[in-house]
Amino acid sequence: MEYRFSDRMKNLSANAIREIFKLLSKPEIISFAGGLPSNEGLPLDKIKEITQEILSSDKALSILQYGATEGYSPFLMQGLEYIKRAGIYNQSKENILAVSGGQQGIDLMFKAFLNKGDYALVEEPTYLAALHILKTYQAVPVGVKSGDDGIDLDDLEQKMKQYNPKILYLVPTFGNPTGKTISEAKREKIAQLCARYSVIAIEDDPYCELRYEGKRLRSIKSFDKTGNVVYIISFSKTISPGLRTAFAVGSKEIIRKMALGKQATDVHTSSLSQAIVEAYLRKGYMDPHLKKVIPIYKSKKDLMLQKMQEYFPEGIEYTKPEGGLFIWVTLPSHMDANELFMDAVAENVAFVCGDSFYPQANVRNNFRLNFSNATPEQIDEGIKRIAKVIKKHI
Ligand SMILES: Cc1ncc(COP(=O)(O)O)c(C=O)c1O
Repeated sequence: MEYRFSDRMKNLSANAIREIFKLLSKPEIISFAGGLPSNEGLPLDKIKEITQEILSSDKALSILQYGATEGYSPFLMQGLEYIKRAGIYNQSKENILAVSGGQQGIDLMFKAFLNKGDYALVEEPTYLAALHILKTYQAVPVGVKSGDDGIDLDDLEQKMKQYNPKILYLVPTFGNPTGKTISEAKREKIAQLCARYSVIAIEDDPYCELRYEGKRLRSIKSFDKTGNVVYIISFSKTISPGLRTAFAVGSKEIIRKMALGKQATDVHTSSLSQAIVEAYLRKGYMDPHLKKVIPIYKSKKDLMLQKMQEYFPEGIEYTKPEGGLFIWVTLPSHMDANELFMDAVAENVAFVCGDSFYPQANVRNNFRLNFSNATPEQIDEGIKRIAKVIKKHI
């Protein structure tokens, strides 16, 4: 049978990371490929306690029923408080939507705005699933150059003029894949440029709470005076990815359109998950939890950097992020991370090749390492094995 799949599926290849997971089923593989929080970073006891309370309360049956597409009301109210941490004030319930993970927030935004052939600007490199979703809407991603403090504002403005894009997608804090952060001065200018050129920025900020050094920065949304920025904050990296909970915050008109799109997608985010996260925030569990996990992640990041310094040959560059989950490695320009990859898997170690994070997949001398999900022993051994493979190809 030849299936008549839709045009929108034609350009879609499998998401590189999901494919790598298949390759990595061997238990002896040390994987720096995923983007998972570490299992020790999941607050199992608190989630058990809260779930027990919810299901024993008089709200239990209503939580097990269908709920509102916009979200469980107490969760939305907690959300309005929570986003103040990112400097976002003066929002009401019409400005916030509960979504099933940050990924759904991105999808609903692209669904709301992008027609086939529309341009969307992305920082280069960028979150590969955002590129994947853009393809499903047959939109055209255009890469904007990026430096140590994030997106290049001159290139951004030039591409806004040249392409008249509807959307700019950014991961401003400890970005995936590079771990880089956009400075606060740039954040304000991005909000201004979006207003000037009528572009909607999607500020995808799942890593902002995982800061190991330096001070927290205001979000781009906090500088938004015109309703041009939609802020997405997920609880996947701070509480649990399995609960599939996040907020999207934006103008009433945009949130309304996203809610209409969501009705067609999944009706609403799991009310039980929303109630769990609501209680978690209300009871003040977030800060003590972050206090516990941040030193664990920081020590893994520091260890990985130290081992790279120790084992990698001269000429290999890498980011030194102040937070998040990733380090981005740049090989000399004649090298191709894809050629290293199969040798690395043969050595029982894995990373994600950098080309999948570029709209045209044309830059091949980078790879991404995740440090949160491996043990210190695995970090030592895994980096040693990668160094051996690099030395073979250099
Ligand atoms: C930048 C970025 N955005 C969104 C997501 C999706 O996360 P979730 O849908 O679990 O919130 C991830 C996950 O790795 C990510 O790195």
